[in-house]
Order: sequence, then structure tokens, then C-alpha cells
Amino acid sequence: MMLQGRHVLLVISGSVSAFKALALMRLLRKAGARVTPVLTAGGARFVTPHAVQAIAGEPVHQDLWSLAGEAEIGHIRLARMADMVAVVPASADFLARMAHGLADDLASTVLLATDRPVLVAPAMNWAMWGHPATQANMALLEARGVRRIGPGTGAMAEAESGPGRLAEPEEVFDVIAAMLTQPRDAQPLAGRHALVTSGPTQEPIDPVRYISNRSSGQQGHAIAAALAALGARVTLVSGPVSLPDPAGVQVVRVETAQQMLAACEAALPAEIAICAAAVADWRVAQAAPQKMKKQPGEAPPPLALALNPDILATLSRHARRPRLVVGFAAETEHVIEHARQKLARKGCDWILANDVSADVFGGTENTIHLVSADGVEDWPKLPKTEVGRRLAARIADAFETATDPA
Ligand code: C5P
Repeated sequence: MMLQGRHVLLVISGSVSAFKALALMRLLRKAGARVTPVLTAGGARFVTPHAVQAIAGEPVHQDLWSLAGEAEIGHIRLARMADMVAVVPASADFLARMAHGLADDLASTVLLATDRPVLVAPAMNWAMWGHPATQANMALLEARGVRRIGPGTGAMAEAESGPGRLAEPEEVFDVIAAMLTQPRDAQPLAGRHALVTSGPTQEPIDPVRYISNRSSGQQGHAIAAALAALGARVTLVSGPVSLPDPAGVQVVRVETAQQMLAACEAALPAEIAICAAAVADWRVAQAAPQKMKKQPGEAPPPLALALNPDILATLSRHARRPRLVVGFAAETEHVIEHARQKLARKGCDWILANDVSADVFGGTENTIHLVSADGVEDWPKLPKTEVGRRLAARIADAFETATDPA
């Protein structure tokens, strides 16, 4: 009874392989798990609600508009009552609806409302699976942290063969069991939304020239990855960098500080904001619409600069301010003192102060002092990936031990 006390919300969408969901339910129940089934209209074309209900051992949920259902158990509660949600089988249509946030039936509404880990087991014809639309939808879902098992390759209902075959019930069971038995504290930030800025910004002078800085984005990207690893839903707003997207993170690419601020505001609400980007302090006041020409004998053109918005300060004083706002301070002297001043000036909760008298931009290590209203924590010199992990763990602690981590 390895899954005793664990609870799976099982969504069965429309595919000829839906019968395999019955075998999966049997395996889950045999292992001690509770299974609450949700059947889509398409799913009900392939397996009967009676069979699903009988094997689940509890009522099957089908109708968003059922008065009795809403009175007994609303769709929001349904979305959050289980430890995880598994969509088995996940049809092409259902993946598309999940990817686009549709909520026009019970199953899609539950998926939109849930804050639990989600697993999908796609099943469809190989051509549908291979279609760029399905591939793009799946990539979007995976980038948002949805986990996937399969599809496998093999014989299909239409006497065709190819990738698209639902994973076998035993395989799906193994993934669900692994997700359910992960220590709970491995996902302490599950259900929380974190916004991270990273990289430099590029401020155009004309269509081919820009002002920027040497930020590599390594620290911001490492923080985004570490938060995602602790279960947070992460939106990473990044200036131009040559780093791969961290797994399970939604990346919004921007160039200028103004675009970065707009992307951050669009990503709100978030409970956590970490401003690790090296935002250009100034932009060119009037970027030239055409490439500026060098004229023989003419003096170089002057560049009038305008002040860029301060993203950290704006988020710290925002009407939808995240509960915890963290900024960085790169200092060459009086590191702690300057960090304290910055804390007050920007209105954020924590400053990670960095002694950059040694080479940090582009380097792979950082020496951090975490400065907050409570005092100063000195961290040893660490790789930026470790700084990311430490910060994510520190944030998880703060959210665990306090109602207000600030
Ligand atoms: O003022 P300073 O640039 O030293 O502050 C650094 C901190 O402020 C970093 O966290 C950086 O991401 C953030 N910042 C910002 N927008 C700016 C300038 C800095 O978010 N325009």
C-alpha cells in the first residue's frame, strides 16, 4: 500500500485508448491511492461513466453546470482536493485546450484552477501528435511545468503505426507513484508564482546599434531554475542572453528596460519577485528610426540619454506588490552599508549584496550577503547555481515559517 493516503484526480479525455485509464485506476487503488475521476464528453464516448465510477469507487464528475455537483463539490475544490492531477489519456484537443487556458467544461476548468502537479499522458494518431500545433501546445505545457509520459510508438486503432500511442498503464502508474511519493518538502514552493528578471537590457541607438552591459544572465537563470525545482511556477523575464531556457520555466524575452517592466507587470500577480537583471540605467532618448550615417568630416552625433524605469522599485511599490521582493546590489566598497540604503530606497524586502571588486559579471561565482530588515547573512563564495539553490531554499523557509516573509 505504497500510495496509502495519496489522492489522484484522474481526467479521462476522448481517445480510443481511454479504456487503459480503467486499468490505471485499478493499479492506483490497489496501491492504496484514492482516485477521483473526471470524464470529458469525449472520454464518455469511449468509456462509460458507470465503468469509471465502479472502478474508481467514487462518483465520476462530468458536468461543470451540475447543480448537485456544484453544491456537493465545486470545481475549484475539485481542482485542489487531490495531491496531483493526471490526464490519461490526454487527447490532442484536450492538450490544446489546456495550453490555451480554455475552461468551457469541467475537466478544462479543473486544469485551469489547479495548483497541483499535473501529468499528461498524450494519446492520438501519429499525424496529430506530430503536427506543429500539438507539438507547440505540448512544449508550452512542459515549459509551464506540466509533466508528460509518452506517447509511445506502436500499433494504433486506425491500423496505422507511429508515435502517439498512450503509455501503458504500468508506466503511467510508475510516474504517478514517483510524483506522489516525492517528499512533500521537495516542492515547498508548489502553487506559488515567482517572477525573475535576468540578463542585460539592450537600448537601441538606431536599428543596428545599442547600449548594453556585460551581464550574462547566469545568476538570474540559476535562480529561476532553482525556484522551479522547488515547485514554484516561474516566469523568467530575460534580456538577450546566450543561455538555454531553464527547464519548467516560462521565459519571456525582451530587449529594452521598458519592455522588461511591461512584461513584469503583465506577469503579476506573483508572490515572489527577484530582480536579477542588469537593467540599463539609461536609454537613448530618441532612437533613430534609420541607421545613422557616418558623414565624412562631420562631428560624431551626440547621444542624449533618458532615465529608464527602475523595475525593482516599481514592483516594490506596485498596487499588486509581490509578498517578497528581492533585489541585487553590486558594490565595490561599503557593501553592507550601501545594500541597506538600497533596501530603503528601492522599497524591497531583501537585497543580495555582491562584492564585485572581484570579477563577477560573466564569472560563475558570487559572494553574497543577504541584507534584510532582520540583519545580514554572510554566505560563502558559491557557484551561481548554488546561490540560486540557496536563495530558493531561503525563500521556501521564509514562506513556511512566516505568514508574511517580509
Ligand atoms: O540601482 P541599482 O542598479 O544598483 O540596483 C540594482 C538592483 O535593482 C538589481 O536588483 C536590479 O535588477 C534592479 N534594477 C531594476 N531596474 C533598474 C535598475 C536596477 O530592476 N532600472
